[in-house]
Amino acid sequence: MKAIVVTDQAAGTAGMKLAERPEPQPAIGDVIVQVYASCITGDELSWPSTWVDRQNRDRTPSIPGHELAGVVTALGYGTTGLSVGQRVFGLTDWTRDGALAEYIAVEARNLAPLPGDVDFTVGAAIVMPGLTAWQGLFDHGRLQAGQTVLVHGAAGIVGSMAVQLARAAGAYVIGTGRADGRKAALDFGAQEYVDLDKDKLKKVGGVDLVFDVFGGDVTKQSAELIRAGGTLVTIAGPTDVRPANGLTIDFVVVPDRAQLSEIVQWVRDGRLRPNIGTIATMDEAVAAFNPTKRSKGKTIIRFRS
Ligand SMILES: NC(=O)c1ccc[n+]([C@@H]2O[C@H](COP(=O)([O-])OP(=O)(O)OC[C@H]3O[C@@H](n4cnc5c(N)ncnc54)[C@H](OP(=O)(O)O)[C@@H]3O)[C@@H](O)[C@H]2O)c1
Repeated sequence: MKAIVVTDQAAGTAGMKLAERPEPQPAIGDVIVQVYASCITGDELSWPSTWVDRQNRDRTPSIPGHELAGVVTALGYGTTGLSVGQRVFGLTDWTRDGALAEYIAVEARNLAPLPGDVDFTVGAAIVMPGLTAWQGLFDHGRLQAGQTVLVHGAAGIVGSMAVQLARAAGAYVIGTGRADGRKAALDFGAQEYVDLDKDKLKKVGGVDLVFDVFGGDVTKQSAELIRAGGTLVTIAGPTDVRPANGLTIDFVVVPDRAQLSEIVQWVRDGRLRPNIGTIATMDEAVAAFNPTKRSKGKTIIRFRS
């Protein structure tokens, strides 16, 4: 089968190559999925899981991309809950070969059914940002209707999902980012916007929840805005920053079939809009991940139409 592979960590996305790889075989509890659309998570080529397995053994050449939509073509021993021929989407194991390939072996429990009226491109695009925003706001942030949430990077891939989910959940949403992100953030539903290059974060006043994607000084300043009992949720990695009278939770997104089913329903009924940038074919994939100018929104690779 054809796949995008990486062998050189230092090269980043520039080291991606379209190559021929053996078709995967299903392990216990796996399905084989014929990939229709898939994508990568921003920093995944810098994570150890792209280069080594759980025993720390070199697993190059590895196939990146852990967000996918496709069709089940085979079931492994003991696999339950999915059928051959079923449309699915989901988030796959970071330490196994990923979905920038014509086929992938993936644990069935990491996938959810993709309704027939949702395009594979949309399915792939909502997996990681949808789950990350959902888990950050609702599982870790315990967001309630009527609360105020500060969403950093509100025009970005994850931030735009967090803005929409928080608004739909009845929160008051303040977005942040660069000046050119203002319009997109407001279109996604933010009620206020802070241009971090120009405005002072302090002017925002008290918030109940911060959804942080940046880390560093922005995280520090944000913690000072959190009301007593509030939470700082961050996807930017571990931090020592704590609100004076609240919690800091750093987390990494995990697969969740029930949440994916809920998220795709929100897409179907118009409450959630995916943030898709470039859509490229398999042959265009390497160039699409190495754009000549900064691209916005999720880059999706269509392996089949
Ligand atoms: N822990 C987890 O589970 C998890 C899951 C997913 C993602 N992540 C991480 O979360 C981060 C965000 O991911 P993403 O996919 O949402 O990225 P993204 O689409 O690039 O979104 C970031 C947004 O913030 C803006 N921005 C970036 N740097 C800024 C700065 N210094 N000042 C003001 N605005 C700035 C960007 O604007 P421009 O487009 O103009 O740069 C963009 O609108 C990445 O580091 C990613 O690896 C973590």
